[in-house]
Amino acid sequence: MPKPFQDLLPVYPLIAQQILDDYQISSGKCLDIGTGHGYLGIELARITDMEMYFVDLDPEALKISQENAVEAELDNVLHFVGADVCALPFEDDFADLIISRGSIWFWEDQAKGVQEIYRVLKTGGIGFIGGGLGRYTPPAMRERLKGKRRKAREEQGQSKFLDESELIDLLKKCGISNYRIIRDVEDEPGSWMEVKK
Ligand SMILES: C[S@@+](CC[C@H](N)C(=O)[O-])C[C@H]1O[C@@H](n2cnc3c(N)ncnc32)[C@H](O)[C@@H]1O
Repeated sequence: MPKPFQDLLPVYPLIAQQILDDYQISSGKCLDIGTGHGYLGIELARITDMEMYFVDLDPEALKISQENAVEAELDNVLHFVGADVCALPFEDDFADLIISRGSIWFWEDQAKGVQEIYRVLKTGGIGFIGGGLGRYTPPAMRERLKGKRRKAREEQGQSKFLDESELIDLLKKCGISNYRIIRDVEDEPGSWMEVKK
């Protein structure tokens, strides 16, 4: 995974705060799937007591997420798990919260990945999966980042980017009915799936 450009870094604490504000889950087990360099999971760990599982299939990314977590001096219980979202090494009903930002566009089999997330999610748990900058990112920062994100997407070959209606189709294909599509900005299409089990 290429190093994210520096000006994306302030976005992760904002998304973490949004997740905490919206779901009020501050303890239990959290999986950050396709964690990359770990930024979202680390920011969520900072503001909660969650036991964090950083999951990625790229060992190099996972190593960097571990280094970043050490640097952040977190006192949460942390795990670093090399795994494909399509074959998660967790039992059914395992996690209270599952977050995944900017990863689904790369999954070989997106339906299998979403089904796996649903399987390991606890009854009463929340999955927040998709991509974007979150709704707390101020308009000026959002504008500044937009062009760069498009360029990065092209460079990373995110060929499986799904628009709002495709996200809904995917959820239906997975047999998930308790969901919402979340928009970062009211007048722009949603880019996140909120899944409740
Ligand atoms: C663009 S990065 C996003 C990283 C991080 N979530 C963020 O928001 O900064 C996508 C990450 O998803 C991981 N990934 C891609 N396919 C995956 C899969 N099938 N299972 C687990 N991780 C995957 C990649 O290795 C990469 O680290």
